[in-house]
Amino acid sequence: MVNKVAVIGSGTMGHGIAEIVAISGYQVYLSDVSSEILDSAIKKIKWSLEKLHEKGQIKESVDNVLSRIKTVVGLTEEINDADMAIEAVPERIDLKKQVFLKLEELLPKDAILATNTSSLPITEISEGLRNKGRIIGTHFFNPPVIMQLVEIIRGNYTTDEVVKETRNFIIKLNKKPIMVNKDVPGFVVNRILLRIITTCCMLVEKGITDYKTIDATARYKLGFPMGVFELVDYTGVDVNYYVSSAMIERGFKAYYCKTLEEMTKRNELGVKSGKGFYEYPSKKYVKVSLPEELGSKLDPLYIISPAINEAYWMVRNGVASEEDIDIGVKLGLNFPKGITDYLKEMGRDKVIKALDYLYRISGGREEYSPSF
Ligand SMILES: NC(=O)c1ccc[n+]([C@@H]2O[C@H](COP(=O)([O-])OP(=O)(O)OC[C@H]3O[C@@H](n4cnc5c(N)ncnc54)[C@H](O)[C@@H]3O)[C@@H](O)[C@H]2O)c1
Repeated sequence: MVNKVAVIGSGTMGHGIAEIVAISGYQVYLSDVSSEILDSAIKKIKWSLEKLHEKGQIKESVDNVLSRIKTVVGLTEEINDADMAIEAVPERIDLKKQVFLKLEELLPKDAILATNTSSLPITEISEGLRNKGRIIGTHFFNPPVIMQLVEIIRGNYTTDEVVKETRNFIIKLNKKPIMVNKDVPGFVVNRILLRIITTCCMLVEKGITDYKTIDATARYKLGFPMGVFELVDYTGVDVNYYVSSAMIERGFKAYYCKTLEEMTKRNELGVKSGKGFYEYPSKKYVKVSLPEELGSKLDPLYIISPAINEAYWMVRNGVASEEDIDIGVKLGLNFPKGITDYLKEMGRDKVIKALDYLYRISGGREEYSPSF
């Protein structure tokens, strides 16, 4: 049974995770490297709790919820009675391993040690630990207070008991867990997203279409909330470059998008730098204007078929169920429907034909061989 949770790292993800854990009634230790960083995290949590309270989404007083969060500078004996830790430090394997070695030393032997990594293998993070069975991935989405989805990732050594307890814990947070049964690069949601992004990049780099046509097709024909490249701008061109490179390095077979690398080098990082595929003069996101007629110039199957194929590769390889993948794309990517619905709507034959085309123009890349 989880009662006390240590959240390690109080940045973008950590402070939001600490907030929802505290809202759900747990005692929380929130750890970071300095008291200044922790003060700023607590301010953000307080602001967010006040908003939730105003909207009637939490019944308890803000002070009551806040009283359950205890800030801790560094990783010290103070957190040694936590039954679970959720690590949310920067995405660097050396740093994460160091944090887990320390957590193993500090926390009780049966405490669950979870990581919020978005691209590093759980199994690799657990290397060097005495008990690798208690390491698990809990991948929250940004912002954690609002996004319902949490991917639960089983590392090669994670025990059934730890999976079960973690699932129960995530449900108690009022979140929707999906199970990622194998530690594959990108897990479920980023794997599907990066499959789409790298394919669209290939279509542009090979001169078959342009990024605006892709975005208009994604928005108007597939009902995506944002165009593919608009989303890359929103989440950060550099983030997409680093995540896709890390995934490819770890065995994800995908087209290498040179454009992302070049834009990152030119500091064209998307919304945050004011320029990416589109311009954002005030460095704030504004919905990109895309003429609807552009959406009729490209077959939407070239965008969605690789995602369908990726999903069925995961089903066939025991990574995730069809049902969980559908939940993942709806809650994690805000797709208006699941992958199985797209397949039904488009028809198997047409999807296979589109994959054949992608296979040919990519020079025979195996990720476009049909998985279903
Ligand atoms: N930002 C996102 O959209 C997002 C979404 C899902 C998952 N993630 C993953 O979540 C993790 C955290 O990402 P983030 O965006 O919150 O990063 P961030 O840089 O905003 O925050 C990381 C925090 O960890 C702190 N930290 C560094 N070393 C520490 C240590 N030894 N002990 C305690 N705290 C330490 C830093 O001071 C910082 O406050 C990463 O693994 C990232 O891949 C991020």
